[in-house]
Amino acid sequence: MENFTLYNPTKLHFGKDITNDLGKVIAGYGNRVLLVYGKNSIKETGIYNKIKLQLNSIHAVVFEYGGIKPNPVVEDVDAASRLGRNSNVDVVLAVGGGSVIDSAKIIAITIPVSHSAWDFYSGMKKPAKAVPIIAVLTLAATGTEMNPFAVLQNHKSKQKLGWGNPLCFPQHSFLDPGFTVTVPKNYTAYGIADLVAHCLEAYFGKGDASLSDKLVIAIIKEAIDNGPALLNDLKNYELREKILYASTLALNGITMAGRRSGDWGVHDAGHILSLLFDIPHGASLTIVYPAWMMLMKDRIPERIAQLGKDLFDVDNAKKTIDKFEEFFKKIECPVRLEEAGISKMKRQQILDTMNYNKVSGMNHKLSGNDIEELLDHMIG
Ligand code: NZQ
Ligand code: ZN
Repeated sequence: MENFTLYNPTKLHFGKDITNDLGKVIAGYGNRVLLVYGKNSIKETGIYNKIKLQLNSIHAVVFEYGGIKPNPVVEDVDAASRLGRNSNVDVVLAVGGGSVIDSAKIIAITIPVSHSAWDFYSGMKKPAKAVPIIAVLTLAATGTEMNPFAVLQNHKSKQKLGWGNPLCFPQHSFLDPGFTVTVPKNYTAYGIADLVAHCLEAYFGKGDASLSDKLVIAIIKEAIDNGPALLNDLKNYELREKILYASTLALNGITMAGRRSGDWGVHDAGHILSLLFDIPHGASLTIVYPAWMMLMKDRIPERIAQLGKDLFDVDNAKKTIDKFEEFFKKIECPVRLEEAGISKMKRQQILDTMNYNKVSGMNHKLSGNDIEELLDHMIG
């Protein structure tokens, strides 16, 4: 194993009606609240009203920033930060999926400063403090509810970047599986794909960590055992519960223990597809992962085959890749560019943007030729 530090200060509150305690928890930080959310889902589902009841119960003074888009952009984060700064808020309360919570994390570190949030991403500035962050998660996928990472897009600099800082851990995250029953079939599937991909990024990371490998296998198995059933029964609370907890564990640090890092090359490449074509994050990963494993098939055949043996009881790398493709298809996710509506005519544009962004893994470095081959597999 590699040396490691495992640190996770987020208090996770999980279960039915768990937000009944939200007001009390917020009051511990103050009563001026910046409420951040996405487009319409929390109003359509009634979650907004439940949260407002909690805020009213503590006589909170609430400032709202709604309209965060999937694949969030830095302009929204900067605008919401200005609102939070001018309103002197005590807490940032995020209610939504990964896009909303990621935005809230960066809003929380941008409120105390006067520059754009992107200066943190470009490395020009380092955050020194954050307004406390409280998250109410409504979609099982990213693991952002219990990690210090946030992914933002900047169309001016042509980047979609993941970035992290310990100041970005939410103080509290509230996960009511009942809040996720309204997530439509496609986003439910993308979430399942994302959690599986987080496990794979850990598995293909740097360093031998057999127990962390076993945790990865257990989490992926949970997704394989329950994901397809959930897609046929979207209102099923018990299945929502299982997938929700699996998605949190897939990226809260435990699968990285004993490794120097995950790989993250597939996420790097997937972010380019979302940047260029605004496709959902999970859908980008089900296209890139099989292609990446094909690229790695003859470089790390035993590592891929071991995964296949543990998960699917198959005995070589190619069969493992086939099984993953089969699973992604079963949950109705795209496995080739065209299935996501991206024409092969876009090959050069994708290649140029991947090269411009220096797409690579932290463990398995990708050369220019590798990126070309990766793209060919994505086209199929
Ligand atoms: O915008 P609203 O109206 O809220 O609708 C959202 C959105 O359209 C909807 N939704 C959310 N909860 C719902 C719901 N619809 C009905 N009922 C509910 N309960 O779902 C759509 C997608 O939401 P989004 O937040 O974009 O999805 P997700 O949670 O998958 O987040 C994706 C973002 O997170 C980043 C991705 O790159 C992407 O930008 N990631 C963040 C990570 C992290 N912080 O650790 C790691 C991941 O690898 C990922 O990169
Ligand atoms: Zn992801």
